[in-house]
Amino acid sequence: MLLHLFFLLSLFLTFIDNGSAGITSTFVRTKFPAVDIPLENEVLAVPKGYNAPQQVHITQGDYDGKAVIISWVTTDEPGSSQVQYGLSEGKYDFTVEGTLTNYTFYKYKSGYIHQCLVTGIQHDTKYYYEIGNGDSARKFWFETPPKVDPDASYKFGIIGDLGQTYNSLSTIQHYMQSGAKSVLFVGDLSYADRYQYNDVGVRWDTFGRLIEQSAAYQPWIWSAGNHEIDYFPYMGEVVPFRSFLNRYPTPYKASKSSNPLWYAIRRASAHIIVLSSYSPFVKYTPQWHWLKQEFKKVNREKTPWLIVLMHVPIYNSNEAHFMEGESMRSAYERWFVKYKVDVIFAGHVHAYERSYRISNIHYNVSGGDAYPVPDKRAPIYITVGDGGNSEGLASRFRDPQPEYSAFREASYGHSTLEIKNRTHAFYHWNRNDDGNKVTTDSFTLQNQYWGSGRRRRKLNKNHLNSVISERPSTVWF
Ligand SMILES: [Fe+2]
Repeated sequence: MLLHLFFLLSLFLTFIDNGSAGITSTFVRTKFPAVDIPLENEVLAVPKGYNAPQQVHITQGDYDGKAVIISWVTTDEPGSSQVQYGLSEGKYDFTVEGTLTNYTFYKYKSGYIHQCLVTGIQHDTKYYYEIGNGDSARKFWFETPPKVDPDASYKFGIIGDLGQTYNSLSTIQHYMQSGAKSVLFVGDLSYADRYQYNDVGVRWDTFGRLIEQSAAYQPWIWSAGNHEIDYFPYMGEVVPFRSFLNRYPTPYKASKSSNPLWYAIRRASAHIIVLSSYSPFVKYTPQWHWLKQEFKKVNREKTPWLIVLMHVPIYNSNEAHFMEGESMRSAYERWFVKYKVDVIFAGHVHAYERSYRISNIHYNVSGGDAYPVPDKRAPIYITVGDGGNSEGLASRFRDPQPEYSAFREASYGHSTLEIKNRTHAFYHWNRNDDGNKVTTDSFTLQNQYWGSGRRRRKLNKNHLNSVISERPSTVWF
């Protein structure tokens, strides 16, 4: 009974607390400098053996989670693009043939990039797979998600602006302790574009080797940031996103997208929309047309959780990249509110920030209210651009903290979103606290579609009871 009362009280506070003063954490971390891990460090090492597969990573390969794309690189010779896989280690009943590509960047020649689409696999199943030949063959595994279902529980991680420093490594290692099953990556992967000439390609390779410890075993859902653009006129490299698109395929065709940089997937009880901050997105562009149709396809009866990923945050009170999200806000915020998006994750700003539910859809250039206001229909905006790259932290927040900003801190870290059922999810932001993982910002997220009024009352009480005993001890609304 007491638990029930506590839970109802916290739900009440959710509604009345919008707009209350937010928190600016003053925590300052000290341990690791923001420098890239040296090439000779063992975490970037090339796997032993002639032509051994390296930079192995997987991503979802279809709309509903019954396919994966497995990617890897060989360097001595093309070798095999086959994936052998099955339900037990070393016993592979299935073989599928992939494709091979490579590219040059300035005078750098990439390795042989293999991409293999594995289809027709079962939901909620662990698969073992092997790639490469002879003594150099390497073995991995992955788990498929539960089938798309409104009450499927699932734990996502959220990482952005990762890079390849010791802080990046901390983030990856802390994330791997979280028990999350898939990464929602909000752009800026390798920061290889901070290098010049052939080192750009070299640092894309080292990033691939750094993330393999996680990305070979579970899908990372990619969105592109500015550090994927790789625009180097003085090197003769002017075609945007070449390295990223050659190395990190996405299942864009499954959602009828015309471009790998924006697409959608459904996974367990979530519909995830990936947008590109650095592709045309204003009215009548391909991305705009696609998003308009994709929002219409969202069925909250099947996938209650509607999550959007983008690189540039719409709401950001850091001095870094302040207002850069305004153009996309003006293009899409109405849809985010109309379709009751639950949460929008972004990166770009190298700090952590969470907003209340707010919108600014009444602003217009000839009048109206030009300030964001509390709006129960609006998404929560979360910036997780704090993966730990070599540019360091964005430590100057604007003062005073805007009313829409609930919590902000300039530290490295990652987030997790643990969906329990159609009504509730637990969210955590985990700071890299000088090498230790410390949960710093947590709250219970109520689903925007099922969590409100009439629909919630229709639900069986069991949906609420099931989460009461598991909710986090620290709750921010
Ligand atoms: Fe960025």
